[in-house]
Amino acid sequence: MQDKNFYITTPIYYVNDVPHIGHAYTGIICDVMSRFLKFYDQDVKFVTGTDEHGQKVEKAAEKMMISPQELADKTSESFRQLGQVMNFQNDDFIRTTEKRHKNAVTALWSLLYEKGEIYLGSYSGWYSVRDEAFYQEKDLIDGIAPTGSPVEWVEEPSYFFRLSKWQEKLLELYENQPNFIFPSHRCNEVISFVKSGLTDLSISRTSFSWGIKVPNNSSHVIYVWIDALTYYLTLLGFPDTQNHEYKKFWENGFSTHVIGKDILRFHAVYWPAILLAAELPLPKQIAVHGWWLNEGQKMSKSIGNTINPISLTAEFSADQIRYFLLKEVSFGKDGNFCKAAMIKCINSDLANNIGNLIQRTVSFVHREYRGFIPEVDYNLFVESEELPNYEEILKQIRDHLFKYEFNSILSIILDIASKANSYIDQSAPWKLKKTNLQLTNVVIYKLLEYIRIIGILLQPIIPSSANAILDQLQIPNKKRDVKHFTSKIQSGILLPIAKPIFPKFEN
Ligand code: MSP
Repeated sequence: MQDKNFYITTPIYYVNDVPHIGHAYTGIICDVMSRFLKFYDQDVKFVTGTDEHGQKVEKAAEKMMISPQELADKTSESFRQLGQVMNFQNDDFIRTTEKRHKNAVTALWSLLYEKGEIYLGSYSGWYSVRDEAFYQEKDLIDGIAPTGSPVEWVEEPSYFFRLSKWQEKLLELYENQPNFIFPSHRCNEVISFVKSGLTDLSISRTSFSWGIKVPNNSSHVIYVWIDALTYYLTLLGFPDTQNHEYKKFWENGFSTHVIGKDILRFHAVYWPAILLAAELPLPKQIAVHGWWLNEGQKMSKSIGNTINPISLTAEFSADQIRYFLLKEVSFGKDGNFCKAAMIKCINSDLANNIGNLIQRTVSFVHREYRGFIPEVDYNLFVESEELPNYEEILKQIRDHLFKYEFNSILSIILDIASKANSYIDQSAPWKLKKTNLQLTNVVIYKLLEYIRIIGILLQPIIPSSANAILDQLQIPNKKRDVKHFTSKIQSGILLPIAKPIFPKFEN
């Protein structure tokens, strides 16, 4: 793989409400992606954070009779906690109320203003506070937004961004860079939206105050989406475009914004148009995932059926949640969160397949070899099933990774475990040892080797359990990287007694 610097971002989360499973999902995708890239020896910066301004947050705070700042402080902490609980290795966490971010937003605004890309006018039209989005009359369905959110009529002075001017350039972008929006059917949606005609975008509000003030006109606050999108640059040191990180990750790196399907337009239309207007480089990819439903139903605060991932860790480990969310749906598709399905998936893949393999093999090592990895006669390798082709596995996983095919990656790993389980059954080492001890040693050695590669490959996905597997095999920390992937397990090492790494849910 070509050496690249990867900048992986989640959307930043509104602080009007606590985290739910959909938020955890985006974070998991980005975390797994960046851990895999690091495993493949790439340079990665993975960032996330909270979106704290705007009318939605102001209204939520009002309802709770606290200040927006207090609400932001409290909820932002829950999102940080989500990262800790879910084991995210993010390199930075933005809060849009931070000074570094205000500097970046006002600098971007001023840049656009100086280039004549922003003008003062007045807006009259529909606005949805829940979506923090403007809608045209023609978009509404029975008087409400297509998302199902209520809208209100807004009439106020407003600054506008000359979005309409960028229509052709955007269409060229989608055509010239077919992977800019992934998966491609999302790109088609965006193309038809842009072709239907872009109007200039209202980018300031005067009827509330919780936001970053427009430079030189403090009666306006900057539209929350302009504020939020700028975070991608803030964390690279913008407005200083000469600094190392900006050059490395934004100008010369591969930057990917992972988002949910509901915020595609903001990322695939408004954001590139703003960057084109500011004459700044564009992100390289917008990767769009689907939505999680709860037992078939849309999750919403009003129905009261949102799933809090932090509370969920009382029943399931972070690894089990990470595993299920990636295994259950293909990237881009909607998924159904259902505890019964989760238990079934954990039991069959983790407990019965991988867990069982480890348990059977390590117990055998303790029963027959006093816990020591057996010495093997390498000439006998040809007599039994070959080990998987390491280079091929690494290549296949890397290919799937760039297409966000996490469940295909899991299938490769599960397939190794299933084959290893059949290998035990077929070679029956408990019988074989009576007739051919040399060959039995080979079988066991190979099984341990299978487990080693399973442990290594699982590290980005379920880091704690993968570490437990590698600890079980006494693989030194420095030998858990891609460079040591092909260096086989060492004979003569004493293994600890098998600990249950993948507990099974009964009932
Ligand atoms: N603040 C904006 C994003 C600004 S990014 C510059 C925002 N915040 S959000 O909190 O409403 O949503 C954050 C992310 O969560 C979005 O990508 C959204 O798609 C995702 N999800 C919200 N509900 C979801 C599900 N039920 N399932 C999966 N993802 C979901 O939008």
